[in-house]
Amino acid sequence: MLKSIAVMTSGGDSPGMNAATRAVVRTALHAGVEVWGIHNGYHGLLDEEMFRMESKDVGDIIQRGGTFLGTARCKRFSTPEGRMLGYKNLVDRGIQGLVVIGGDGSLRGASILSEETGIPIVGLPGTIDNDVWGSEYTIGCDTAANTIIDAINKLRDTASAHRRVIVLEVMGRSSGWLAMTAGISGGAEYILVPEEEYDLDEICDDMKASYEKGKRYILVVVAEGAGKGYDIGKYISERAGLDTRVSKLGHIQRGGSPSVIDRVKASQLGEHAALAIISGLSDIVFGFDRGHVVSINLHDAVTNKKKLNPEFMRLAKILA
Ligand code: F6P
Repeated sequence: MLKSIAVMTSGGDSPGMNAATRAVVRTALHAGVEVWGIHNGYHGLLDEEMFRMESKDVGDIIQRGGTFLGTARCKRFSTPEGRMLGYKNLVDRGIQGLVVIGGDGSLRGASILSEETGIPIVGLPGTIDNDVWGSEYTIGCDTAANTIIDAINKLRDTASAHRRVIVLEVMGRSSGWLAMTAGISGGAEYILVPEEEYDLDEICDDMKASYEKGKRYILVVVAEGAGKGYDIGKYISERAGLDTRVSKLGHIQRGGSPSVIDRVKASQLGEHAALAIISGLSDIVFGFDRGHVVSINLHDAVTNKKKLNPEFMRLAKILA
């Protein structure tokens, strides 16, 4: 059994990271294990921004978006020298295992660190993109999808008032999960995702025909990995001759108080991560499969590409 562990958040922040950190810290303390918090992701690991944590350090954070530990995207950690320095900083403090909460890039870094140094590492999928292989859920994706739906609801009002086409670009990096989920639940007419080819000319012809039949307005949700909202909007306006406006939601969709789902699931994952790392397990990521917490091999999680559920794509077309 490990006597001292550390926890950090890394990469893009996501709502629910605080709930996960809180669960890791309180579960470990409950088991009598020392816990260190690392500020600002791998940057903080290299720059020795670490502190011993007590239960009160994670008080009053479950309701907050972002990550109170801070996070970063760290180039230095992608070098073997950087990773060795990080390892040394852990060993110097007697830290025997590390919990990393982050997206696929952060988990990839964690996997290499464990491979090179042998230090036990357990990962938790923390990203709004919901793109970590092996898990149907990542911490923050639910809150982000709800933020997008809120935007869609508002855009509908103005689109309908003006008989406009509105194109909404959302995040997701190379994944269409956020666009697809928010698009289906927001009732979008077209959902463009990187996982599926689309023909913009065909879409324009289809839109024109719909307007001729009396449709008042059209909503298009574009995943950032499927194209730039502004280019798509310009094309629709020129080719279909329809009054078109574009919105890009940007970092608004990364913030906000986490949803109930994100708080509860993040707490469950945090508990599992703490218990696993304490008992000496390593190279696993905890995620969800069919509603249950499952452990996924860390190497598999970072080397495989998660696919978008084909049922979503089919459903989106039927309902549009
Ligand atoms: O991975 C989360 C994410 O929000 C992506 O959806 C987006 O492409 C990226 O991070 C933006 O990163 P940054 O905040 O560094 O601009």
